[in-house]
Amino acid sequence: MARRSTPDLGGSFALGSRRVHRVGYGAMQLAGDGFSGPPRDRDEAVRVLRAAVGGGVDHIDTAQFYGSGAVNAVIRAALHPYPQDLAIVSKVAVGHHTRAEEIDRAVEANLRALDVGGVAAVNLRMPDPSAPPDRGFDAQLASLGKARDQGLIGGVGLSNVSRQHLVRALEQTEIVCVQNLFNLADQRSLDVLEECAKRDIAFVPYCPLGWPLATRQRILESPVLAELGTRLAATPTQVALAWLLDLAPNVLLIPGTRTREHLTENLRAGDVVLDDAARVELRRCFPTGRPARPAGITGIR
Ligand SMILES: NC(=O)c1ccc[n+]([C@@H]2O[C@H](COP(=O)([O-])OP(=O)(O)OC[C@H]3O[C@@H](n4cnc5c(N)ncnc54)[C@H](OP(=O)(O)O)[C@@H]3O)[C@@H](O)[C@H]2O)c1
Repeated sequence: MARRSTPDLGGSFALGSRRVHRVGYGAMQLAGDGFSGPPRDRDEAVRVLRAAVGGGVDHIDTAQFYGSGAVNAVIRAALHPYPQDLAIVSKVAVGHHTRAEEIDRAVEANLRALDVGGVAAVNLRMPDPSAPPDRGFDAQLASLGKARDQGLIGGVGLSNVSRQHLVRALEQTEIVCVQNLFNLADQRSLDVLEECAKRDIAFVPYCPLGWPLATRQRILESPVLAELGTRLAATPTQVALAWLLDLAPNVLLIPGTRTREHLTENLRAGDVVLDDAARVELRRCFPTGRPARPAGITGIR
């Protein structure tokens, strides 16, 4: 496999009105143990963030609730004043009864903590993708739409949603990205990915290496990934990430890590080129349970 001296980061795709590299960075892992409180090693957290941006990352995912504000604080300490082309995307986690004022306050808390006038996008993070969208969802979505119209956020995104949520949201407003659990071993959101691909909306798989831990181990310790890695001169992690990039051009990655070593490895995933034999082998080992290329959908492998 031909390696470039700097990572290609998988090319780029639109995130609303911006274009970002397809390999970005998710900051959740920088929170302390159990995802609460400050980083275990704050100096390394700062170095990881600077190495990500130094390596070309222009899309960082965060949330004010990661480490109860500690993750946004370390992003600000490491990267402020932010490079102009850096798209920071945050999220607001809502429950069924979260009111508009609480969403407004959560958006403001992110901006204050990051010390910015606006962020590239904020995802409305739903509690349960299997709960059908209702008028409460519409009202919560409208709050983020208002924040966008006020210039506080560049675009509205969704997280942890069904295709039904997405379609209903699109009847009301523009959606720039959808962030759902998706990886080799958990492809339940394939229909959401397909809908996003059809409409040129960025699909951002969270936990791209698998969740919970046993699932991540099943992926990263799979003999199939080890064999493919040897053949493609890649690590199993890079194969797992390259598979996601290969699925459709609208997939944007945000793998999380608290070490520069893993960051460097993850950023190189965009350089790994899967061939048809690799795709077939990965589909055999991690089946979707659905046809590989659903009728009428282009762009999904
Ligand atoms: N919208 C949502 O509800 C939601 C939910 C979860 C996450 N997210 C976002 O999605 C991002 C990605 O998800 P995630 O961080 O949970 O999971 P992930 O990226 O799938 O995996 C992170 C885990 O894998 C390990 N890891 C990372 N790179 C590795 C490598 N090259 N080799 C071996 N192990 C490696 C990390 O440990 P080390 O630290 O030791 O590298 C960490 O334990 C998060 O950071 C967050 O920004 C969003």
